[in-house]
Amino acid sequence: MSSVTVRVPAKVNVQLSVGPLRDDGYHDLVNVFHAVSVFDEVVAKESDHITVSVVGEWADQVPVDDGNLAIQAARALAKHAGRTYGAHLVIHKSIPVAGGMAGGSADAAGALVACNELWGLGLPFEDLMEIAGDLGSDVPFSLLGGTAVGTGRGEQLSELPTTGSFHWAFAVAQGGLSTAEVYAQCDRQRESAGVEVPWPQVDDALLEALSTGDAATLGARLTNDLQAAALTLRPELVRTLDAGRAEGALGAIVSGSGPTCAFLAADADHAQRLADALSQLPTCRAALAAHGPVPGPRPSWSSPRP
Ligand code: C5P
Repeated sequence: MSSVTVRVPAKVNVQLSVGPLRDDGYHDLVNVFHAVSVFDEVVAKESDHITVSVVGEWADQVPVDDGNLAIQAARALAKHAGRTYGAHLVIHKSIPVAGGMAGGSADAAGALVACNELWGLGLPFEDLMEIAGDLGSDVPFSLLGGTAVGTGRGEQLSELPTTGSFHWAFAVAQGGLSTAEVYAQCDRQRESAGVEVPWPQVDDALLEALSTGDAATLGARLTNDLQAAALTLRPELVRTLDAGRAEGALGAIVSGSGPTCAFLAADADHAQRLADALSQLPTCRAALAAHGPVPGPRPSWSSPRP
């Protein structure tokens, strides 16, 4: 039986600027996404129904019912195509679950690309991007990969030029954080501080650092408006961030809504040394070394296309 496999990267946000709360419950963002070499693999096999199974280190934390974003993605694609299709999706999970690295979004993007190919739909990328935006704010970037700035909810993307590779270490925390809860905590902290929330602005110096491959400047410019909220919910992450800084990280930041922490390294060896040191921390479940940017998902058939 033929099947389609796609590898989908995780992301880190190198700038996450959160604007005021909107009437629809979302926030307008300036969200600079950067795809990194931690991959989930989604395999779509012919089947009568849309089902999912999950294997890998974090598999026990992923729902296999309607709450699974890959199932929702496959259903949304079939609906868009106007027909009933089936596929069994096998997700090989390497991206931490509820970790702030868009693992669920990666699986949804993988399901869209894999099923588009398996079902022979041939839908253009723009259609997949539209479906992706309805599935979640980060799903369009998971389809795109590379480095891009997202505005609106984060789903309106413009690709950004970069030079060379940036090297990262990621400290995976024990347990996850709910994105919605972290945004709600951010709103509460802003309200109690009584600050006027400014409209989010692109950091031109950060974009310049990405464009020229200047890791030292990028490290110094990393920002995440959700970090204070994530640290309130998980105070032990302060120790994780401090440990990475003590090992010479060029920048240390909570990844997205957390609780994964991201550390920019000077080179690949430094990223591995950082990961080795972070993995010893009691606050850390695992640590990974990775690089970015990496491209978004591309489909490949396991046997000749029927
Ligand atoms: O879009 P997605 O379903 O991934 O978002 C999860 C939650 O994160 C939303 O329900 C919302 O609470 C919060 N969110 C937000 N503003 C954004 C993106 C997400 O408030 N731009």
